[in-house]
Amino acid sequence: MSEPKKLFVKTYGCQMNVYDSERMAEALGAKGYVPTDRADDADMILLNTCHIREKAAEKVYSELGRFKPLREANPDLKIGVAGCVAQAEGAEIMRRQPMVDLVVGPQTYHRLPEMMERVEAGEAALDTDFPEEDKFAHLPKARKAPRGPTAFLTVQEGCDKFCAFCVVPYTRGAEVSRPVERLLREAQDLVARGVREITLLGQNVNAYHGEGPNGREWGLARLIWELAEVDGLDRIRFTTSHPNDMDDDLIAAHGTCEKLMPYLHLPVQAGSDRILKAMNRKHTADDYIRLIERIRAARPDLLLSGDFIVGFPGEGEADFQATLDLVETVGYGQAYSFKYSARPGTPAAERDPVPTEGADQRLQRLQELLSRQQRAAQDAMVGREVSVLFEKPGRLAGQTVGKSEYLHAVHVTGPETLRGQIAKVRIVASEANSLAGELI
Ligand code: SAH
Ligand code: SF4
Ligand code: F3S
Repeated sequence: MSEPKKLFVKTYGCQMNVYDSERMAEALGAKGYVPTDRADDADMILLNTCHIREKAAEKVYSELGRFKPLREANPDLKIGVAGCVAQAEGAEIMRRQPMVDLVVGPQTYHRLPEMMERVEAGEAALDTDFPEEDKFAHLPKARKAPRGPTAFLTVQEGCDKFCAFCVVPYTRGAEVSRPVERLLREAQDLVARGVREITLLGQNVNAYHGEGPNGREWGLARLIWELAEVDGLDRIRFTTSHPNDMDDDLIAAHGTCEKLMPYLHLPVQAGSDRILKAMNRKHTADDYIRLIERIRAARPDLLLSGDFIVGFPGEGEADFQATLDLVETVGYGQAYSFKYSARPGTPAAERDPVPTEGADQRLQRLQELLSRQQRAAQDAMVGREVSVLFEKPGRLAGQTVGKSEYLHAVHVTGPETLRGQIAKVRIVASEANSLAGELI
């Protein structure tokens, strides 16, 4: 029997890429590839890439450059590029970096096994179609290997919103929701493998409108309630949501569904109505603030997370101040902020950018405010009782780490057998990036 071939996958970008990497590895498993976590030991290297900002895309090329010595040492080494850069740049990747053997987009990776056959025969393989068929229907169904207690599950993919700055509608394609029955089966499968918390993924996850078992369309809230019936699944999260798709049922579920965790990532991007309009977000700052009030009325202890862009074309000092004001009004427990990056092919890329220096300064001011809020939210946990799903050993000997329902990292002194368990913990201290707790 021949030796199994080794596959090294490196993942960039969002959680959906993490999920896709897992599925790609499974697809290649059918071709005899087993995962390795060392590039220098691999027969096949696959980069699963992100195109969201310029820096993310450029990383791919510098990473490919680093693989050159590996290829020189092993001419049989195969190199592939998957994900959103693959979709956006296609054959250009092979022109810029001729040692790339394979380029596959996010909607065609179910075709990886046949593409690998061509690559192993010494040909190049490129597929960045948006096919008619549903890739998930063609991927290996039985996902058997045991795994950690948390998992991602893609329920919706793609985006029809076309925010003026964003490449996602072009790299992921149109919005598609997966049917409820398939998702239930995949969730049950994950639970059978030790998973207790599932994060439902979608670029616009709350726009979910999948076919229900009765042939009718179900929204995200209904899907969550159905998943909450799965025995052994204790926690449900979802990300990323768009403010305009937060419907009444989903807001209500935050107050009434015990398995739905009190954490919500709801990006607003900016606080100025003029900029929101230029971004094509289709809501005002006030719409967002009122929405948050309604969600908090349903779930007062909800920890809110957001995304922000500074330096969007046309952003003046007053517009930026409106973003700071919105952040002050809303109060975030977690946040991600970015300097605007012009992306080829998007409408905003045609507009005059804010000078770099000004944008850098704004980013710094916004991040100071957001980190103050984040710190306050974390410190406010001290003295409280939370429930923690333990995932892995901690930094120090004898420690085990997990996540609270608010997604804070919490470490306790406790046995390794805590892994995969949910336990009550009293928070005793707030440290740099995590909370210290004691088992109750
Ligand atoms: N679907 C999600 C976001 C996907 S991208 C949503 O609608 O909110 C994740 C984040 O990256 C975005 O929320 C935005 O803050 C940031 N982002 C997207 N395009 C960007 C760009 N061109 N420059 C800077 N940040 C960007
Ligand atoms: Fe991008 Fe906007 Fe779609 Fe989010 S909603 S993926 S930011 S276009
Ligand atoms: Fe990046 Fe594509 Fe996700 S551009 S953020 S990997 S959808």
